[in-house]
Amino acid sequence: MSERPTKAILRVLNGEPVWPLPIWIMRQAGRYLPEYRETRKQAGSFLDLCYNPRLAEEVTLQPIRRFQFDASILFSDILVIPHALGQDVRFAEGEGPKLDPVTSQADFSRLKDELPLERLDPVFETLDRLSKSLPKETTLLGFCGAPWTVASYMIAGKGTPDQAPARLTAYRDPAFMAALIDRLVRASTAYLIRQIDAGAEAVQIFESFGSALPPALFDDLSLNPIRRIVEGLKSARPQAKAIVFVRGGGAHLLRFAEAGIGDALALDWTLDPAKVLPTLPGHVATQGNLDPLALIAGGPALEKGVDHILSTVKGRPHIFNLGHGILPETPVEHVAQLIARVRGA
Ligand code: CP3
Repeated sequence: MSERPTKAILRVLNGEPVWPLPIWIMRQAGRYLPEYRETRKQAGSFLDLCYNPRLAEEVTLQPIRRFQFDASILFSDILVIPHALGQDVRFAEGEGPKLDPVTSQADFSRLKDELPLERLDPVFETLDRLSKSLPKETTLLGFCGAPWTVASYMIAGKGTPDQAPARLTAYRDPAFMAALIDRLVRASTAYLIRQIDAGAEAVQIFESFGSALPPALFDDLSLNPIRRIVEGLKSARPQAKAIVFVRGGGAHLLRFAEAGIGDALALDWTLDPAKVLPTLPGHVATQGNLDPLALIAGGPALEKGVDHILSTVKGRPHIFNLGHGILPETPVEHVAQLIARVRGA
């Protein structure tokens, strides 16, 4: 007989409604916290922080100490995968990520075929430390970027407003795009399996750029690659749980649900749960989806937004979260107010 989980987030990921809703927030370790900014200064570069298990553990724990979130997400970045595959990745202060673009067959052939897992040992050590230091009720989450989102950074060499360089590549050279996506599917699956072995109990896959894809490219570049990762993870580690976040993927949500891709589907803030949830099978867990700007605004915008979500998801398996990552300018007191409102419901 399999044991029933006691941690609130794992119960929801098993399809059980839990009340008050468990809560965590995307990018919960980050610049809105003064203690993060302090540790970040000590670490040197952002990647030095990601690869320093003691400091990465510390910044992962900071939001847990302050707010007792129900989940703790590993502190790292989606771009450690291209970095480990051999691409140069830098984080310029205030500018976001910069990579040497992979645009030709020659660039592609310089990447490693298999993910060298040992290059990511510091990340696995961070998870190992966290699995020992977290409160017993806190679920430890690992994560990776979805292949399309990571590929769009690899091709453009930076963040782009509508992922035009990667989309153009998908049209002009579908074979190149397919090969890059396949490489990322295999690397991400191996990476997530190793995260589970190091102590992660569930993982979230971040498709931050789902909204850029036209319907004709969506399945090849987003849905099927994510499906392969989740299936590969679960066939290797049947106990692993997966949350799938496709920002801008509202039109495809039902297909993710019907294909059983993920134990929970995360909704971005443009979706109205009152409209979306009745269309999904009842056992499918969901996560989300307060607008991060309502959290910055606070006051009635925050209260109204939270109450609408609470009243529509009651009785269903749902994890409270934002509809995308928390922004650096968010007042810390608003996060405390958000949690009080969700937990006091
Ligand atoms: O959620 C957490 O607290 C865990 C850590 C985490 C980070 N990045 C830390 C980070 C996670 C889960 C990510 C995921 C990530 N990284 C995504 C997907 C989620 C999303 O927000 O859409 C993406 C697209 C990236 C790529 C990335 N990393 C960008 C575009 C940037 C620069 C923009 C920014 O917010 O500064 C980063 C840097 C980054 N990753 C920071 C943090 C805390 C800020 C860097 C710093 O402290 O100097």
